Amino acid sequence: MNPEIINVNINKKINKSSYPIFVGNNLLIQAGELLKKYINNKKLIVIHDDFFSINKSTNSHFDRFIQSIKKEAASVNLMAISGGDKTKTMSQLTNILESVLSFDIDRDTLLIAFGGGVVGDIAGFASSILLRGIDFIQIPTTLLSQVDSSVGGKTGVNGSLGKNLIGTFHQPLAVIADTSILKTLPRRELRAGFAEVIKYGLIKDKSFFIWLEDNFEKILNLNDISLNKVIITSCSIKSDIIQDDEKEIGKRALLNLGHTFGHAIESIGNYDKKIIHGEAVAIGICMAFSFSKKLGFCLESEVERVKALFKKSGLPTAIKDIPNLLFSSDEMFDKFKYDKKTRNNKLTFILNNKIGESFIKKDVNTEIIKNFLTEEI
Ligand code: GLY
Repeated sequence: MNPEIINVNINKKINKSSYPIFVGNNLLIQAGELLKKYINNKKLIVIHDDFFSINKSTNSHFDRFIQSIKKEAASVNLMAISGGDKTKTMSQLTNILESVLSFDIDRDTLLIAFGGGVVGDIAGFASSILLRGIDFIQIPTTLLSQVDSSVGGKTGVNGSLGKNLIGTFHQPLAVIADTSILKTLPRRELRAGFAEVIKYGLIKDKSFFIWLEDNFEKILNLNDISLNKVIITSCSIKSDIIQDDEKEIGKRALLNLGHTFGHAIESIGNYDKKIIHGEAVAIGICMAFSFSKKLGFCLESEVERVKALFKKSGLPTAIKDIPNLLFSSDEMFDKFKYDKKTRNNKLTFILNNKIGESFIKKDVNTEIIKNFLTEEI
C-alpha cells in the first residue's frame, strides 16, 4: 500500500528544513524502502520499547521492520528500554547515552526511536546531544505518539519538579505512522491517545470535532479508513501550527490545551500508572473548558458537549474519576510555576471561546484560578 505523506515544513519562511510523515497501513514492512535515502548504508541504532521484545503478538511488526531496514543499513544495533512516564528520567537518559556510545557511533550514525511517546521523547533527546547532535527517525507505535509527540521535534525527560522540564527541540528526519501496529495497543493506551486527537478538533477544527463525535466508535474499534483520517487530520493541524513557530514563541502553545492542568496532575501522581498522559490531558481539557466558562469565554453547553465525547470514549473528565489520586488545590496551584508557559510568575492558560477556537490567555488572575481549583478539586 502506498502511504499518504504529510510534509512538515519547519521554518518555512526561510525554507530551512522539511520532513515527511508517512501514514498508512502495513508500512513497517516497507520501512527500508521508505527510509532508503536517510539510511543510505549508515550505521543504525534502534531504541525500542521492551514491549516489542517481550510481547509475542507485537514482535512480528518489530521483526518485519528490522528485516526491512537491515537491507539498507551498514549495521543495525538494538537497544530495549522500558516505556512509561516513570522511566522518562535523567538516569534512564544517561544509561541510553552510555549504551549508544558503546556501539562506537560517529556523526553519521542514525538513531531510530521505535515506541510510544516516552521512547520517542527520550531517544530524540539522546540523539540531539550525542556527539553534539546526530540524526534520528521516529517510528511511533501508539495513537498518542502518531498524532502528536513524534511530530514537531520536542524531545526531553521529566524533572523531579515537573513534566518535560529538561529537553531540546530536535526535528526527526522522517516519521512513519503505521496504523496496523495500533492493533497491538492496549485499549487504555488507545483511548488515551484519542484524547490528543479530540484536542485538535477543539483547538481549531470544529468540523473534525463533529466528525469525531459521529465516528469515535469506529476509531476506537480500529477501522483503518477512520484511523487514517484521524492521523492525517491531526498531523496536518499540528504541522500547520508548528511550521511557523517551531520553538513555541507564540501559537504553538495552543497545542498545550489542557496540558497545564494535565501535567500538574501527572506530576502530583508521580507518573504512576493510575493516570497516564492522555487521561490527564482529557481531564485537563475538561478543566480548561470549565475555566473558560468561568471567565465568561464559552457556554456551559459547549463544556458539557466536550465532556460527553470524552466520557463516551471511556476517558476521565474530572480528577474524582481517578481512584486514589488525592491532592489539594494548593498542591495543584504550586505545580503551575513549573509550566513552561509561566513567565515572571504570571500564568498562561490555553482557553476556548468555543469548540474549534482556542486562544492563549496570558497573565491569568491568581485569585480566580485558585478559586476555580477549590471548586474543582
Ligand atoms: N505536544 C505539544 C507540542 O508538540 O507542542
